[in-house]
Amino acid sequence: MNPIKAFILFAAFCPIFAGNAQNRIGSGKVDELYQASCASCHGKQLEGGSGQSLIDDIWKHGPTDADIAKSISDGFPELGMAPWKDVFSEDQIRSLVIYIREQNQLADKDALGKRLEPNGGVFKTEKHSFEMQKVVDAKGILWSLDFMPNGNLITTQRDGKLWIVKNGKLTGPINGTPKVWTHGQGGLLEVALHPDYEENRWIYLSYAENVGGFEANKPAGMTAVVRGRIKGEEWVDQEEIFHAPAEFHTNSGVHFGSRFAFEEGYLFFSIGDRGRQDMAQDITRPNGKIHRIHDDGRIPTDNPFADQPGAYASIWSYGHRNPQGLDVDPSTGELWETEHGPRGGDETNRIRPRLNFGWPVITYGMNYNGSPMTDSTSQEGMEQPKHYWVPSIASCGIDFYEGNRFYNWKSNLFVSGMASQELHRLTIEDGEVVDDEIVLKNQGRVRDVANGPDGYLYVSLTSGTPAKGSIYRLVPAK
Ligand code: HEC
Repeated sequence: MNPIKAFILFAAFCPIFAGNAQNRIGSGKVDELYQASCASCHGKQLEGGSGQSLIDDIWKHGPTDADIAKSISDGFPELGMAPWKDVFSEDQIRSLVIYIREQNQLADKDALGKRLEPNGGVFKTEKHSFEMQKVVDAKGILWSLDFMPNGNLITTQRDGKLWIVKNGKLTGPINGTPKVWTHGQGGLLEVALHPDYEENRWIYLSYAENVGGFEANKPAGMTAVVRGRIKGEEWVDQEEIFHAPAEFHTNSGVHFGSRFAFEEGYLFFSIGDRGRQDMAQDITRPNGKIHRIHDDGRIPTDNPFADQPGAYASIWSYGHRNPQGLDVDPSTGELWETEHGPRGGDETNRIRPRLNFGWPVITYGMNYNGSPMTDSTSQEGMEQPKHYWVPSIASCGIDFYEGNRFYNWKSNLFVSGMASQELHRLTIEDGEVVDDEIVLKNQGRVRDVANGPDGYLYVSLTSGTPAKGSIYRLVPAK
């Protein structure tokens, strides 16, 4: 039997894949559910038939997720749609709502791409028009970028190289940086200069490490943090800042996090759930958490779980899936995060200590293969996101804009989207996200975004046309 067939057979009989619904149609994947049960009236592409279009964004029976779920559950027997609540479980109905939302956005995607296409090289958005200037070309995935005081850029290449960009050229790689575990999404990840770099010259790196640990007999790893200095082209004076003992490492290749934010002598950093989603709720483990430590690695004694026996003392907040964006709002000092969620569940959160952000108990998303996860989007004692994306954008790096070149973007939060090839501009007022504008579309997977000391906004674009592993900057159009 070929391995794919074997897997399908295994999946069909395995209780994890079979889910908990009593009457399951097809494999339980949402597109099959839709085609088998809804397409005959609402159209194969949701374009409408004897039932109305589900992609025109006109909702006769209410536009909210709850309204749509109710329409599906209760149906409209008198108008010809039977109720589905006895056929589908609540998590299946939730997955249909996500699917309908996704298809709505996809139907609008071409129009959006057209609207955001550059005209004569000029990108027109609500508040500013800009041009894109290429800063440097690179072959690999440039995971993170930051700036040196002299205006040079420093950037990590995920497969383990640290580069300095001088006058449009990559120089390096810097010798002697830590050996990284290049496994799936793991490798050399975040780079950031200490806020007092001019005095202390510290540069911080995060990376996936394997220290000889195993899980289920397979090599296992976890996110680690070091700091060091660059002398000439050498990485020197390295100090360990955070490292989890091997017993906590997992063999998964996904969800390492990881970003840094410095605030008042503290270093905040994120670690994803490392492919073990239930561990995000377990405060004795480091994965699926935002951590707070002193900038030299000591654990603050006033951390929320520092006194709790058995707890991982560096934890600041928990219940996170894969937080790949972290920044402090310069106008309020509040910590913001974006996390790469399941399909239809990317989130923007405002982080405060001790809070549980709910993953995987509550989420707005479903599994990437289209099978339902849960219909629970909220629960007492768990935080709601300040903003979420259905469909997912595959959110990654974020940055609050602090420059002076785009005066109407001041203090806006820029969020990169990889799968969607988008850059989002979020407006935050009184701790709430009040607006979400897409300013860049179809220019490549946006992996990181950063303020330049010149006031321009820099983006790392990977594996998309026209950019393939390049850093660009957004410059106001003349
Ligand atoms: C036998 C035909 C038929 C089938 C099958 C069917 N529907 Fe409907 N659907 C309708 C009709 C008819 C209406 C109500 C039209 C009206 O209000 O005029 C409707 C209404 C809806 C609405 C409300 C739309 C709005 O504008 O508020 C949603 C959502 C919906 N259907 C989803 C589904 C989903 C999901 C499925 C599959 C699980 C499904 N329907 C299966 C015929 C059907």
